[in-house]
Amino acid sequence: MSHVIGLKCRECGAEYPAIIQNTCYECFGPLEVNYDWDYIRDHISKEKIASGPKSIWRYKDLLPLESEKRIDLGAGFNTLHHAQRLGAALGLDELYILDESVNPTNSFKDRVTSVAISKAIEFDVKAVGCASTGNLAAAVGAHAAKAGLPAYIFIPATIELGKIVQMLVYGPNVIAVEGTYDDANRLASEVADSHPDWAFVNINIRPYYTEGSKTLAYETAEQLNWETPDHVVVPMASGALLCAISRGYKELERVGLVESADVKLSGSQPLNCSPISCAVQKDSEVVPVRNYETVAHSLAIGNPADGYYAKQAILSSGGYAASPTDAEIIEAIHLLARTEGIFTEPAGGTTVAGLKKLVESGHIQHDERVVVYVTGNGLKAQDTLLKSLQRPPVIKPMLSEFEQLTAPKLEIHKHEAVPLAHAHIAQ
Ligand SMILES: Cc1ncc(COP(=O)(O)O)c(C=O)c1O
Ligand SMILES: [Zn+2]
Repeated sequence: MSHVIGLKCRECGAEYPAIIQNTCYECFGPLEVNYDWDYIRDHISKEKIASGPKSIWRYKDLLPLESEKRIDLGAGFNTLHHAQRLGAALGLDELYILDESVNPTNSFKDRVTSVAISKAIEFDVKAVGCASTGNLAAAVGAHAAKAGLPAYIFIPATIELGKIVQMLVYGPNVIAVEGTYDDANRLASEVADSHPDWAFVNINIRPYYTEGSKTLAYETAEQLNWETPDHVVVPMASGALLCAISRGYKELERVGLVESADVKLSGSQPLNCSPISCAVQKDSEVVPVRNYETVAHSLAIGNPADGYYAKQAILSSGGYAASPTDAEIIEAIHLLARTEGIFTEPAGGTTVAGLKKLVESGHIQHDERVVVYVTGNGLKAQDTLLKSLQRPPVIKPMLSEFEQLTAPKLEIHKHEAVPLAHAHIAQ
């Protein structure tokens, strides 16, 4: 007896066994994991979760693994910070941040990858792989190393150097493709088709992979004493993360762990590559974007696989979508760092900038309990951030030089009550 029945088509409901497959043979709709909800309801409890491991695997009863063999680097169980200073800066009474920058490879992608590669082991595959905008590559590299499996990783050649360095260190086969993420993804899909015993985490085993992100909803509710927030803000690239968080809250209600899954979902994408946000704002179809350039490389997907469903999830929840500019994204990275001490990459900047815009436009109310998912670490995007900072002044190691450097600025501070800009402080 297992809690997993198999796979099921999201469109026509056709059922399949739990195999390596992502598309319905009947209607080409996407497949998702089909669970036995009666079985889960009988076996899950808050106490059982509380006594589980301090990682995503405390929610194993809601994840698609059938064996106990896991590739676990410790993803998840991250702190939900009460962001009082950022909340005050934005005019929000109750704001929280789930900080994903502290995962094993420093993004939320460790959650989906831990689930996907554990499932790949169940399928006894010969290799794993992915197409990635940067963060998934590091997560797959690390988890493949832990599993002792070869990995094939396809990336657009133009992503941040910090991300390329990190992924290479784990020793996978990294293939940098001339073109966009969508070009890299197309090639990876062809490779997956021609190697049926390789598992590409975001392609042929995508139904299992996306399940990992549901744990963000579970973790949020658990840290709010099994209550749900009023409104969440989620970064979007393919839209899979937002859809998974939406499912996660609904499932908690379904198994009786929370009273209500009435959570508004809002998304954010960088203006220069915002097919889902655009569709939400215009209530139109998701139109793929072909040529795009943005500092938010990890969110730069022009043809989002889950765009249609992300738009539906947003609009049916009563949420909305934002599309901040690159300048607003960088500004938001600084704002988050200076108010909450969390250093995020442009994906997190996009989310915080999106939050700011949604508050300003009235789509998020001041008295709502809001949770923001900050999904990646700023240390991976230092080349982008350096352009927005001044290098620290260099002085001789003498007190007089220090006094000379700071005295006039301290004067200004005293008389005009202007805070010293962060870039002026020697670091
Ligand atoms: C840091 C970060 N946040 C958010 C996302 C968006 O994820 P999704 O493609 O599931 O929408 C990505 C995707 O690569 C990412 O790297
Ligand atoms: Zn179907």
